[in-house]
Amino acid sequence: MNMCALRASWRRWRRWLALLPAAASPLAAHGEVVVRPFGATSDGTPVQSFELRSAGGLTVRLSALGAALIGVDAPDRSGKVADVAFGFDDAAGYESDANQYFGVTTGRYANRIAGGRFVLDGETYQLALNNAPNHLHGGGPRALSKVTWQAKTFEKPQQRGVKFSYVSPDGEENYPGTLQIEVTYALNDANELRIDYAARTDRPTIVNLTNHAYFNLAGAGSPTINDHVLTLHADRYTPVDDTLIPTGELASVAGTPLDFRQPTRIGDRVDQLTATPAKGYDHNFVINRDAGAGVVRAAELYDPQSGRVLTVFTDQPGVQFYGGNFLNGQAGKNGKVYAYRSGCCLETQHYPDSPNKPDWPSVVLRPGQTYAHVCTYAFSVR
Ligand code: GAL
Repeated sequence: MNMCALRASWRRWRRWLALLPAAASPLAAHGEVVVRPFGATSDGTPVQSFELRSAGGLTVRLSALGAALIGVDAPDRSGKVADVAFGFDDAAGYESDANQYFGVTTGRYANRIAGGRFVLDGETYQLALNNAPNHLHGGGPRALSKVTWQAKTFEKPQQRGVKFSYVSPDGEENYPGTLQIEVTYALNDANELRIDYAARTDRPTIVNLTNHAYFNLAGAGSPTINDHVLTLHADRYTPVDDTLIPTGELASVAGTPLDFRQPTRIGDRVDQLTATPAKGYDHNFVINRDAGAGVVRAAELYDPQSGRVLTVFTDQPGVQFYGGNFLNGQAGKNGKVYAYRSGCCLETQHYPDSPNKPDWPSVVLRPGQTYAHVCTYAFSVR
């Protein structure tokens, strides 16, 4: 056997061995994608998880159910590793009521649409009102977060990942058009996790996808994110009504608790928002971007105690900063408990309710066009 064949055969063995529950970790070298069983959905579909390791010391886990980010083991400034992303131990957890979109891909329209209604080319569409009186994160049982995606792993020099694909049939969750979707996660050796979204349709439709990962950089399950320091590169945000639907205004953050243009401790002003409809931080920010600029730095989250930093880059117009106001102490993976405001999401996306806001960046996708979206979660320490 020559060297190449030997290497290929060892890789095959290693993949097979990785399916044995406890044996996987020592065998998962960086550079390779390790595939494991992750339980099954309630209809009996087996679900797989995928582990990516970088030479920089980051480990990322993904699941085919919901094309989800289910774990991020990140070193702190002294090299101590903690899982900083929320999730569950298996597919059943993701199907349970405790799951508030932990790490999943949301869509076909992430965030809210007023009354679940929109008009496209003169036709009115009515979507599920799963967050009454509005539509939220793609709706009911066939929302993208709830289906099992096809997965294809890839390994390249200094980069490895998984491409998830799903074909959402015309009319699924009442959205028009057959939507062919790909969500590709790629981890490089600089500890950057890049998510690329792509979608194509055979009929005019609307699309807005995002990832709904919750992070606590002190380790998921730590009691609060109040001590995290946040920077948002956003001069403006989209104020909302009592049901969290944008009024249509793009308002200045100046002089409000939403001004994160300078690094600011999250806990400093959050209580000024507790009695508002958002119940804390739950706002879409308009990312500052020079004309023609594509991917820009949108946000930075820093935990002074561990030194962990998460920087978010995107080409999308907005980022929803959601501070975990609906977390209720549910039980997550590894026996951890997710308390009120103990995690936060930085969801790169189009503005909420854009289908009903003709002046805002368009979310309409027509046959022949490709929806594309880049979001990078870069992990470092300081
Ligand atoms: C967020 C949204 C929140 C809440 C959460 C899920 O994206 O902004 O209002 O619905 O998802 O619990």
